[in-house]
Amino acid sequence: MTCIPLAVVGGAFCARETEQLLLREAFRENFLIGAALNDDVVSGKDPRAAAIVAKQFNTITAENAMKWVWIHPAPNTYDFGPADRFVEFGEKNAMWIVGHALVWHSQIPDWAFEDDAGGLLTRNAMLARLKDHIGSVVGRYKGRVRAWDVVNEALTDEGGIRNSKWKQTIGEDFIAKAFEYAHQADPDAELYYNDFSLDKPAKREACVNLVKDLKARGLRVDGVGIQGHWGMDYPTTDNLEAFIIATGALGVKVMVTEMDLDILPTAWEYEGADVSKRVALQVGLNPYVDGLPPVMEKKLTDRYVELFSVLCKHSDKVDRVTFWGVYDKTSWLNNWPVRGRTSYPLLFARDYQPKPAFYAVLGAVEKKK
Ligand code: G3I
Repeated sequence: MTCIPLAVVGGAFCARETEQLLLREAFRENFLIGAALNDDVVSGKDPRAAAIVAKQFNTITAENAMKWVWIHPAPNTYDFGPADRFVEFGEKNAMWIVGHALVWHSQIPDWAFEDDAGGLLTRNAMLARLKDHIGSVVGRYKGRVRAWDVVNEALTDEGGIRNSKWKQTIGEDFIAKAFEYAHQADPDAELYYNDFSLDKPAKREACVNLVKDLKARGLRVDGVGIQGHWGMDYPTTDNLEAFIIATGALGVKVMVTEMDLDILPTAWEYEGADVSKRVALQVGLNPYVDGLPPVMEKKLTDRYVELFSVLCKHSDKVDRVTFWGVYDKTSWLNNWPVRGRTSYPLLFARDYQPKPAFYAVLGAVEKKK
């Protein structure tokens, strides 16, 4: 793939020009570009967001519809409605459809790990439940969902395997088993490992070793996704590049799977995306209720350009960049790690209009053509 270096864009765009500016066209030679969709987008309740997706992107990920707690809420009970709508939306718009996420320690009901008496299942019983779940979900969308986040967030920042109920019931090879079952359910689907903070050296190394281990077992693994819930000063571009190079050297696709940039004051020193952590709303943590001041807008824009420059530089290895949401108003970051904040993490504003960051990222590509 060719790479078009980016620079901060100057000047203004008239309305007619902006109509021609399409992310999916600008990055066609670089990587797929997409967004995670909630049910309002695919069900028709948010038609303006749906229009942005149809026009700008060529790949979509299910933000929530395919997580265990929603798609498999009770034993032998599946709710495929939202996931069906999501897949139909993707097919209608000829998109690369990504399923998220088959195995995660979060967003899964306790019963999934328990026997009738409320005790933890044995390894064999849990393996059978995992195989049944993956077979049901992946099997339903065989040939339609083109790729799956098979395992999400199994590594710790220190480079170990998270002590989840998956590990407690099955053992550390729950990861390998999930990849095995997903491949059995749809041999043509691409299979990914997905996690946050993979730019951190210890976690990066653990991820590299994990992919090597899966390959050594003869399993199919097509790619690694770094989530990309990033801030103004993390990750460093050096660490991001090191991750892309180390992962790309394994011969798998490198993807940014959940990109958004947090410009709000940090609620703590923590940089990851653990949904179990939340702090109480404080006024000082929500300073831009009435809009981003120009100096902060520029900071966000410049940071987007900086990160896209790295991604473009390595577009021989980077296969996809997916934003975690379509526009600022419905980003998860309005409610995490503090509920009820006004956040500005994406390329489209609360009123659906493209932001300066959109023009900076995309306009710079246009200029170089
Ligand atoms: O749909 C219900 C609604 O009926 C109910 O009234 C409301 C009350 O809280 O909750 C709604 O569900 C919420 C759901 O998002 C849909 O909006 C859940 O509470 C909320 O916990 C859930 O948050 C999602 C979170 O994962 C947990 O599943 C976010 O939307 C989603 O963006 C986020 O995505 C994760 C990725 O899957 C993995 N990587 C980190 C990323 C960010 O946390």
